[in-house]
Amino acid sequence: MKTSTVLVTGATGTVGRAVLSALHARGHAATAAVRSLDRVPPEAAGGVVFDFAKPETFAPALAGHDRLFLIGPPLVPDLDTLMRPFIDFLIAAGPLRVVYLSADGMDALPELPFHANNEKLLRAAPHLSLTVLRPGFFAQNFANYSRPDIEERGVLFLPAGSGKAAFIDVADIGRSAAVVLSEDGHAGKTYTLTGPEAWSMADVAATLTRLLGRPVHDVAPNPDVFRSTLAQAGVPPFITEYLIPVYGLIARGAAANVTDDVRRLTGRAPRALADVLAEQFSPKTKPTP
Ligand SMILES: NC(=O)c1ccc[n+]([C@@H]2O[C@H](COP(=O)([O-])OP(=O)(O)OC[C@H]3O[C@@H](n4cnc5c(N)ncnc54)[C@H](OP(=O)(O)O)[C@@H]3O)[C@@H](O)[C@H]2O)c1
Repeated sequence: MKTSTVLVTGATGTVGRAVLSALHARGHAATAAVRSLDRVPPEAAGGVVFDFAKPETFAPALAGHDRLFLIGPPLVPDLDTLMRPFIDFLIAAGPLRVVYLSADGMDALPELPFHANNEKLLRAAPHLSLTVLRPGFFAQNFANYSRPDIEERGVLFLPAGSGKAAFIDVADIGRSAAVVLSEDGHAGKTYTLTGPEAWSMADVAATLTRLLGRPVHDVAPNPDVFRSTLAQAGVPPFITEYLIPVYGLIARGAAANVTDDVRRLTGRAPRALADVLAEQFSPKTKPTP
């Protein structure tokens, strides 16, 4: 193992775990930045307490690290406000290699400008050696967020219309991040990370129908139906108003872009959405009547 110099934020999350696993597989130990030390993932070489909302954690967490994987939590409409104190701290600190997890298409979303704002601040910092990763929609979203709809109600209920998205396996994000964190030559670069092909929600529903052995319908609600249905279910409006523009990217054809960046970085083709879904959904998960 090389000396642990990489600090991974979001370490308990979907992407952070994948980054830690990929660094571990490359023989590169990394420290997990966690809000609670009892949640340090096993792939990490150790853990330090870190919270974007607690500036007193910043210096102790970063001490001894010269590389940082920086990611903010999802479903936070003012994510740039939450992350600003830490980004200001980084800008004032000494030289550091930073890999920032942004999102493909979000720079064109005026409703949710947080990734664009964070990228702008980080790019302007003279001491930071910055690489930006812009992944598309995660293949894991279906298992992470839509499993009850799919398995209990037999529907996909997302305001994505008939548009397509090049869903990416987070393991490919992890492997790509591990490359840019452990190899030279990526400073100042931006990589758009996508899966191998763009799928519509109808394509996803058809595959889930086959995998589960029972129908899964693509409802494709329009934003008004989506809004009123989630309101009836008691979902807080800030989440609904976040999801509508995000899935609107798919609806208006802004998420179908397929790139070769995962293969360029990792040397292997990105994994197909069908393979990720097959791993996560099977007839065994059929609810009992
Ligand atoms: N889902 C998609 O399709 C998609 C596509 C492109 C980009 N993205 C971006 O990916 C990011 C989300 O990644 P993810 O799916 O891996 O998230 P996730 O699984 O929900 O994990 C979020 C992580 O953030 C940590 N966290 C939450 N609040 C924190 C705070 N105040 N200080 C420090 N850490 C905190 C959580 O730690 P705890 O365990 O302590 O809660 C957890 O480790 C977002 O920035 C989103 O815009 C998502």
